[in-house]
Amino acid sequence: MVEKYIINGGARLEGEVPIIGAKNAVLPILAATVINGTTNVISNVPKLKDVEVMIKILTSLGARVDIEGDTLIIDSSTINRVTLPEELVREMRSSIILMGALLARFGEAVLSYPGGCEIGPRPIDLHLKSLRQMGTEIVESHGFLYCKTDGLKGCEIQLDYPSVGATENIILAATMAEGTTIIRNAAREPEIVDLQDYLNKAGCRVKGAGTSVIVVEGVQKLNSCEHRIIPDRIVAGTFMVAAAITRGEIVLKNVVLEHLQSIIAKLKETGTKVLVDRDEIKVIGPEKLYPIEMLQTLPYPGFPTDMQAQFMALLTIADGTSIVNETVFENRFKHAEELTRMGANIKTLGSVAVIKGIKELTGAKVFAKDLRGGAALVLAGLAAQGVTEVENINHVNRGYENLYVSLNKLGANIISV
Ligand code: UD1
Repeated sequence: MVEKYIINGGARLEGEVPIIGAKNAVLPILAATVINGTTNVISNVPKLKDVEVMIKILTSLGARVDIEGDTLIIDSSTINRVTLPEELVREMRSSIILMGALLARFGEAVLSYPGGCEIGPRPIDLHLKSLRQMGTEIVESHGFLYCKTDGLKGCEIQLDYPSVGATENIILAATMAEGTTIIRNAAREPEIVDLQDYLNKAGCRVKGAGTSVIVVEGVQKLNSCEHRIIPDRIVAGTFMVAAAITRGEIVLKNVVLEHLQSIIAKLKETGTKVLVDRDEIKVIGPEKLYPIEMLQTLPYPGFPTDMQAQFMALLTIADGTSIVNETVFENRFKHAEELTRMGANIKTLGSVAVIKGIKELTGAKVFAKDLRGGAALVLAGLAAQGVTEVENINHVNRGYENLYVSLNKLGANIISV
């Protein structure tokens, strides 16, 4: 069923919201559970469409997955297949991470080219180049990738770009390789630190995550382990924008402040108040929103591309002109067109968007074309005058747990049909 939200705009959001576990941390960690061939207890797992897909993939490979509340108990000892189901891989791009995990455990992996959000070409050349450098033979044929190795070998890898997925894939492949792997120009995202933490609990030797040089010493045997997923900084950022755009007051519970610094800094530029108390953040939307002179997306610790759309929604009603420069993905402005249907004044040219703030958005029928773009339309609908219908909410469900329920608890007026 294709779900849609009907939003009656104008409510001021107020209250507390607990932040769920991070999608981008749990997905690579679930993939990593393939490697140890024993039991893994992973807690604080968010109930998301992408997590469901990853569980289905693990099960199809032969793993046993039990769900107890927000905890997954994964027994990977029973995995006996190395071919990923085509339809599931197409549904979720992060399934490519299983390549490194399957190669580490079985020396073999077969998968189709991955899917995911429609945000630019999203090539996987860096993944393939690095895995080949580690001794994998990869044959690309009829849309499939056949990967095989006689034994992965540690080596020095200089990434041309700090790709999150490629960094994770290399780490996974290196866990049981012969010798040491050094990744330079590695991605520094907090989710990579979480992956390192999980792996080290399972007996791996990984260090340097969070910096641009990661060193993985291959080991021969791993053990079972327990791990709790870090909070989702993008979900937290989305609720922060919800407070700002509705001139509301929201307290976020269970966040890691350090992960949110770039988002907080930009939010403050709009005049939004952000008050911090250990793992809690209170966000108070201002009467008058200021524009942001330059919002540039960058790899972590820069401003996240996954928050660009939500900020664009906010800037549509700022008092002045803002510029957004999307440097991480090509073609990640599909939400701009939809926001325009709600009265926003946005011009895009290549990777730059110029947003002239208007007084008020007006409700309209809009279409979620990708995950974060869809979240941005929901935010815009909260602030708009009248009724907004956001179609194709299925994209949003990939990264948010019942978003409308959480927003309604804060005072929003959203029906899901
Ligand atoms: C991850 C996140 C995604 C986020 C992105 C950037 C997960 C599950 N997803 O995606 O939410 O938006 O990081 O922060 O963690 N690239 C290449 N060749 C490659 C790999 C990437 O050119 O082999 C390019 C991409 O096209 C893109 C840029 O590098 O322009 C960043 O991609 P990457 O960091 O790999 O993002 P993902 O891991 O796909």
